[in-house]
Amino acid sequence: MTTSPRRSATRVNVALASTLLAASTLSGCGVFGSPDLVIYNAQHEQLLDELIPLFEEESGLDVELRHGKDLEMANQITEEGEDSPADVFLTENSPAMTIVDNAGLFTELPEAVTATIPDDYVPADRAWTGFLARSTVAMYNTDSMTEADMPASILDFADPEWEGRVAFSPTGADFQAIVSAVLELEGEEATRAWLEGLKANGVIVQNNLVVMQSVDSGEVDAGIAYHYYWYRDREENGADSDTSALHFFGDQDPGAFLSISGAGILASSEKQAEAEEFLTWLTGTEAQQAMAESYALEYPLNPDASLDPEVKPFSELEPPQVDVSSLNGPQVTDLMTEAGLL
Ligand SMILES: [Fe+2]
Repeated sequence: MTTSPRRSATRVNVALASTLLAASTLSGCGVFGSPDLVIYNAQHEQLLDELIPLFEEESGLDVELRHGKDLEMANQITEEGEDSPADVFLTENSPAMTIVDNAGLFTELPEAVTATIPDDYVPADRAWTGFLARSTVAMYNTDSMTEADMPASILDFADPEWEGRVAFSPTGADFQAIVSAVLELEGEEATRAWLEGLKANGVIVQNNLVVMQSVDSGEVDAGIAYHYYWYRDREENGADSDTSALHFFGDQDPGAFLSISGAGILASSEKQAEAEEFLTWLTGTEAQQAMAESYALEYPLNPDASLDPEVKPFSELEPPQVDVSSLNGPQVTDLMTEAGLL
């Protein structure tokens, strides 16, 4: 009796499946190569690509990273709802966490998961935790400007004296988080006026790297971004490579806003224990120190981790008090659209 083609195909599949099973067991993967944890990541891709292998090695868990942008991924999660393949969501800025939180899609985090993070960076409903902070700054060209020429407030950049002189990137989630802080601190009317002024006087560029390059090259006198773009550039290219310096607004100005990167666990996830293990690790001293020592130069939130002393100390930033769960992404994009910035 000859074997039917169908039977031999089945046999091949069984053989292939056992090979895959053996391989996945060896590498710590889930059965048939499915990951133990799926992370939707909107933080910088390079940082998580560096960090996740450390967690995989330590936990023996296999992690799948899917990269995207803050608002795009937050909207994707709310559309996917209960069926989302995501176990964990990581963002660059907290307004994206608030969208998912408002949709009721996060698990309330146990105290143990956030034990190392100061209360200011965990929302009251414990739907997510902060894991990194980024300071708003203004960069300025040192050939055309001195520190004394810089305004006292980020709101001043809307004034006509800045016409054609200040660069920013309105399509980025980073800039939109700054607008959400202005909205929270100054109210809708003042935010609308600020955005109209920036539209009239500012120079719109593609992203924060271009903000920095425009300042360095002298195309503009100043630019709005986060601190790490400038520090990373200096670390990579040396102190003599640029003609720019940083202006920290301090003094609780909206321009000293600290944007918090968040981490949360989806309530629909069947991997609650693994996800909790990951968040506990992410906020623990080892991972926080690994991030502090990476290329990223963002501020760790665990006080036991310390950043390169070249970066302005966290304790000297004088940020305004902003409730991390209050920042409103959708209202910001509406106001920015109205102002013609999006
Ligand atoms: Fe960024």
